[in-house]
Amino acid sequence: APPRPRDQLGRPLHDLRISVMDRCNFRCTYCMPRETYHEHYRFLKSKERLSFEEIVRLSRLFVYFGVEKLRLTGGEPLLRPDIAELVGELTSIDGVKDVALTTNGVLLAQHAARLKANGLNRVTVSLDTLDPEIFKQMSGGFAERDRVLEGIHAAQAADLAPIKINVVVQRGVNDHTLLDTLEYFRGSGIIVRFIEYMDVGNSNQWTADQVVPSRELLARIGARWPLHPVQENYHGEVAERYAFDDGAGEIGFISSISNPFCGACTRARLSSEGVLYTCLFAQAGLDLRAPMRGGASDKELRELIASCWHARSDRYSELRQSLQKRAPQQQHKIEMYYIGG
Ligand code: GTP
Ligand code: 5AD
Ligand code: SF4
Ligand code: SF4
Repeated sequence: APPRPRDQLGRPLHDLRISVMDRCNFRCTYCMPRETYHEHYRFLKSKERLSFEEIVRLSRLFVYFGVEKLRLTGGEPLLRPDIAELVGELTSIDGVKDVALTTNGVLLAQHAARLKANGLNRVTVSLDTLDPEIFKQMSGGFAERDRVLEGIHAAQAADLAPIKINVVVQRGVNDHTLLDTLEYFRGSGIIVRFIEYMDVGNSNQWTADQVVPSRELLARIGARWPLHPVQENYHGEVAERYAFDDGAGEIGFISSISNPFCGACTRARLSSEGVLYTCLFAQAGLDLRAPMRGGASDKELRELIASCWHARSDRYSELRQSLQKRAPQQQHKIEMYYIGG
């Protein structure tokens, strides 16, 4: 049987999250604030991004070590030309059980059918609020809420299911609009998940008082529609699942701040330029592109991946409070748009 490397905390490698595009057509205030990511910001050049062949090659090497689940992210993955071609190649790798994609949804209507035809299992769409004005403000003003809803409906028509909606919750910004979002999606089979606003990256000026703890949301939602907990789908599932007592479906809470889940974190992340990160909050990663472009064999690349995973001891969310006390220059983190949520 192929090796199953374990990290320093005994965690296996099970998921690979691949950022295929560092650019995005949104400027969410908590991810790519416009003041930093303006028209002169230097994103990667196309040649700096991994080609599809390179992504497929690395994915095969990760699958060799036990990865069964691939997720394509960005930035915005649908900005990568011919992304459906890549999906087709990834879904045909032996051993891959689930290929999903996280998108802001604006380009989804035009891509949904082809993605499905090429074997994509499901999509997760970011949609923080249904209020058109707050939506505009949170996403940086580049898009209309209605384009996202069209994308979600196209994904539903193409059966990219179960469709999940990610809602980043910020106190005082969108937390008063969450029941409207649930009202809209309840009963549709679409799973809305509320994400505690996290201190990812360096430019969103995160403060703890902007976080609404999941238990507070659970109480607010439960007062309107009674809920009961549901068993996790798989060990280490990121979202805690709840179902409406009246049978209108399920929702989820992602509580990286109030209830960290590092203990069961089996996720590796690959940036669009081919750097491997073992944590969303990593300060450095392992460049796989240079050796790959320098002619490394599969065996050599596998050794790099295995030793990187073996050395892993990340558990940022569990250590958050003590790490935040470090000097600012020791707190530099990878940006979310670059590493993919
Ligand atoms: P499923 O396969 O549907 O269970 O997807 P998922 O929940 O693993 O993936 P998704 O990309 O939808 O994750 C939702 C959000 O949860 C991400 O955008 C992040 O905000 C957060 N998240 C996911 N994985 C991690 C993680 O490893 N650490 C932390 N701190 N947050 C994570
Ligand atoms: N905190 C929590 N979630 C975030 N996302 C982006 N930035 C943050 C943050 N600071 C979410 C996006 C998307 C997913 C990829 O990550 O909304 O749903
Ligand atoms: Fe917003 Fe996602 Fe784009 Fe970041 S990558 S700006 S969260 S749509
Ligand atoms: Fe995994 Fe790092 Fe997130 Fe913890 S903080 S769950 S180790 S990615």
